[in-house]
Amino acid sequence: MTKFSFTLKATDGAARTGTISTPRGEIRTPAFMPVGTAATVKAMMPESVAATGADILLGNTYHLMLRPGAERVARLGGLHKFMNWDKPILTDSGGFQVMSLASLRKLTEDGVTFASHVDGSKHMLSPERSMEIQKLLGSDIVMCFDECPALPATEEEVAKSMRLSMRWAQRSRDAFGDRPGHALFGIQQGGVTRELREESAEKLKEIGFEGYAVGGLAVGEGQEAMFGVLDYAPGMLPQDKPRYLMGVGKPDDIVGAVERGIDMMDCVLPSRSGRTGQAWTRRGQVNIKNARHADDPRPLDEACTCPACSNYSRAYLHHVFRSGEMISGMLLTWHNLHYYQELMAGLRAAIDEGALARFVSEFHETRAAGDI
Ligand code: GUN
Ligand code: ZN
Repeated sequence: MTKFSFTLKATDGAARTGTISTPRGEIRTPAFMPVGTAATVKAMMPESVAATGADILLGNTYHLMLRPGAERVARLGGLHKFMNWDKPILTDSGGFQVMSLASLRKLTEDGVTFASHVDGSKHMLSPERSMEIQKLLGSDIVMCFDECPALPATEEEVAKSMRLSMRWAQRSRDAFGDRPGHALFGIQQGGVTRELREESAEKLKEIGFEGYAVGGLAVGEGQEAMFGVLDYAPGMLPQDKPRYLMGVGKPDDIVGAVERGIDMMDCVLPSRSGRTGQAWTRRGQVNIKNARHADDPRPLDEACTCPACSNYSRAYLHHVFRSGEMISGMLLTWHNLHYYQELMAGLRAAIDEGALARFVSEFHETRAAGDI
């Protein structure tokens, strides 16, 4: 059986390309993971998600434990079979979503109790229960159970929270057990304070993980502060293991993160904004709701080969959005995910050729020209 492994291929400055090998297939890095929170990438068939070039999806412990329930998914053969996706799946551990979605939260050393945002029922998550749920789902890449402090937070609060997350990281490692072919990733915390990021990285390396995430970013600190942390945080993590930036981001965030040594990312943005009429193209953001598209026979992006751009006009995309037709979300989500995967493919090719700087300046120049 293929074990879980990561092989570095090329580097260009701090940026890297590589391959994560798993029993369910290879993940080309830098990788963008579409978000399939509730066992679906909304508005997309799984085979369409694969057609955009995605090698791996993200699922959520929090949502799936509440509905349909992890034990039920396990009885039905696991998450891959349940949602008809046979490539790798990474699952987030739940703590982050509890903090943003659940009510009546109570945090202790042991874990967190909360009321479901679906029906108000009471639940508990701890490192041990999160590992159990992610195993029941059959996740290929399991995330440690952590806490991400809500901003604004004092440095003292961030330090206290990070140290709790590090104790939970050890408990996650202990509870995960020996599972060949599956990986457990640690999550670095520490906000925007370099010393806390260092302390967190040291603790995680001491425990030892198959990959390392940078958590606690893209929570409202702004791009400049996030890039400030990414100027040093990836370098604190082992060079020979994948580095995953959680919950990022916009196309320019992704480019900046890859330049700074990030290998994996996930974000709801391309799929969520597709359902609200926002398209992401080489030339930046396009709002298909805008009346200027009503008579426009041109495609969204003449250089894009996705179904939305190959077969439909801006006028049509505008019409179906205005009419509330389901195909609107389907086509724009497909386009956005296609654009994100093309961006990742472009970044990987540029790094392999040692031409990342040129790729990045062209990326910014094309966007600066704006939509036409
Ligand atoms: N998603 C975005 N940021 C985070 C984080 O810090 N921790 C977890 N578990 N998930 C995230
Ligand atoms: Zn397109």
